[in-house]
This record gives sequence, structure tokens and C-alpha cells, in this order.
Amino acid sequence: MNDILPKKALRRLKAYRPAVAENKGNDVIRLSVNEGALGPSPLATKAIEEWSTNKHFFHRYPDQIDENLIEAISNRYNLQKQNIVLGNGSDDLIQMICNAFLDSGDEAIHTEFGFLVFPQSIKIAGGTSVCAEDKNYTVSIQNIVEKITNKTKIIFLANPNNPTGTMVNSNEINELIINVRSDIILVIDAAYAEYVEHDLYIDGASLVENYNNVIMLRTFSKLHGLASLRLGWAYCPLLIANLLKSIRPAFSVNALASFAGTAAIQDIEFQQQSILHNKKLRDWTFQQLSQVEIDFIPSVANFFLINLNSEKRADGLLKYLKDRNIYVRGMQPYNLHSFLRVSIGTEAEMKKFLKNTIDFCGKFKRD
Ligand SMILES: Cc1ncc(COP(=O)(O)O)c(C=O)c1O
Repeated sequence: MNDILPKKALRRLKAYRPAVAENKGNDVIRLSVNEGALGPSPLATKAIEEWSTNKHFFHRYPDQIDENLIEAISNRYNLQKQNIVLGNGSDDLIQMICNAFLDSGDEAIHTEFGFLVFPQSIKIAGGTSVCAEDKNYTVSIQNIVEKITNKTKIIFLANPNNPTGTMVNSNEINELIINVRSDIILVIDAAYAEYVEHDLYIDGASLVENYNNVIMLRTFSKLHGLASLRLGWAYCPLLIANLLKSIRPAFSVNALASFAGTAAIQDIEFQQQSILHNKKLRDWTFQQLSQVEIDFIPSVANFFLINLNSEKRADGLLKYLKDRNIYVRGMQPYNLHSFLRVSIGTEAEMKKFLKNTIDFCGKFKRD
């Protein structure tokens, strides 16, 4: 008999393993994990080549805190260097925040159709996850506020939200902050911030500078196209930044990721090109879907939800596309059974996705 048991909080926990397309071959269209459509930043690719061929630093431990990267982030977004904490992807930072602040019995709020890493990380840390229902597939500030109890320690908010692609505006975020006690941390995960054009959007950086209990998260996995290197960062009030730096595994951010990230964040031309591409293809896709009366949720990010209005139809389309080497994301884990999430890819990829989706919907009507 095996007497070894994990801690109580983990005994019933199911692994979070996003269904990405394992096959990364050239003939595969991968619209399942919201990666940057245009690939990695060319300056980052060049930096990686240089690092690999000229520097040969593979045998050296990385800097514990890469000051070059911190400086590049600080310059790019006009932020205070000492408030920036680097992580092995923003997933790593989410887990670190939960580990740092949640005792057993403490509650952390996440939203209904929100990023699944939040409840997972809360549970792994031993906290209790509390779900605030959305309204019209959008985060509801009122519902979040209603879930606050004297046990609440953290509130997680992805803005824009994944998987719905919707956002809350600065007025709504300010309303939330007014209603949040100063001993509760509000984490604004702005993984897709760069793609948003809305006048009233804020990524949360200014709030970090004005409140002692707000954290903003960012990632290199989306706009900069560096998902495989695992690099994210948090902008935090000083006390929180110092705490996270003190519990972070010493070498959790690898040297190659830091080197490439430093180049990517300065690659303004590529960032502008990617944002423009996303806007153009997102608008085009929405126009095409509207014309053929296929429902979708308008998104401000680099992905969107398509609504097939029945689970059977959604499952059917997921399989139909997969059989044609087009991978989108099934939404069962999010309880959005009639939806599929589609990342914005290249023009050729979106044309193929659209053609096959229209073909399937036509066939499904006839069958
Ligand atoms: C809202 C949100 N936060 C964080 C992440 C993870 O980012 P990273 O690759 O930096 O861990 C994702 C990735 O899908 C995301 O959608």
C-alpha cells in the first residue's frame, strides 16, 4: 500500500493541461493557444542566434535578476524598475502570488468564464477559489464585489478576459477598487493589453503606482511571440515586489529568455506590425462571420469565441477542423459548451479556418 499522499488541497485536484495542438508541423494551423500570429519578434530571433553562436553561455547560471531586461521593460512602458518582478511566464507569477498570500481557508475570487490558471493556482496554494458570475460573457464588477467576504485575500481579473475576449473599462475598474479593502490584492492580468484599442482601456500600471494592493501581470508569450521561452513580468507595489523576489526560485528565468525578451521589447516595429495585423484580420473575420450569420462574441484581443449554439455542433466543428489540420480550442473546461475559441492567425490561416467553418455550418444545416 502506498502511504504517500499529497497535501489535502491537492488530493482532488485535476491537472490543468490545455488542449494545444501537439503537432507543430508546417501544415498545421494552430489557432488554439492565442500565440502571436506573426511568429517571434525578428530582433529576438537575431538575439537568440547571437547568444547561441557567439556567447556560448549555456554552462553559466543566469542572472538572478536580469537588470538589462528590467531596464528595457522600464524604458518601454515608463515604469519604476524596482517594482518589476520577472517570472517563468505569467503562469509562474500567478502561482507565486497565490503561494505568497493564501493560507488555508483564505478565499481568492476569479471570474466565471475566466482564465483557468487562476482557480488552479489558488487551489494548489491551499486557498479556496470563489467564482464570480459573468454578465453577457463579460466580467461583472458588481458580482465580484458581492463575493468579497472577510476571508477574501486576492481578486483575479484578466483584462481583456480569456477566453471571452471582452474587457472592462477604467470606470469599472475604479469602481472595483473603491469597493476592495486595502488588505485584498487585486491582480489585473493584462496578457493581451497591447491588442486593445478601446479609449477607456487601462492595463493597470497606473493603479499599481497609486494603490498598495494592485498588481499588473504581462507576458512575452503573445504580442512578442516568445511563448516557448516562458517569460512574464509583474508590476507590483514595492513591498509585494520584494516579497515575490524573495520567494522566487533563484534561477527561474533562464538567460536565453531574458536576452531574447530584452530584444523583443525594443522591437517596436514588430509590435506595431503585429497589432495592425491583428486588428485587420480580426475585423475581417468578424465581417465575414456576420455575413454568413455565424455568431461570435466581439473581442478586443487576438482571439475570439465563435458560438455554434449547440454543443453537438461545436464538437462537430472542432473535429471537422481538426481532421483538416486546423486546431481551435474546445471550451468544455470553461463550461462554454456551444463555443469554440479561435486565435487570430495569418491571413492564409484565417481564410482556411473561415472556409472550412462555413462549409461545416452549411453541411450541418443540411444533415
Ligand atoms: C489571461 C492570461 N494570462 C496569462 C497567460 C499565460 O501567459 P504565460 O505564457 O506568460 O504564462 C495566458 C495564456 O494564455 C492568458 O490567457
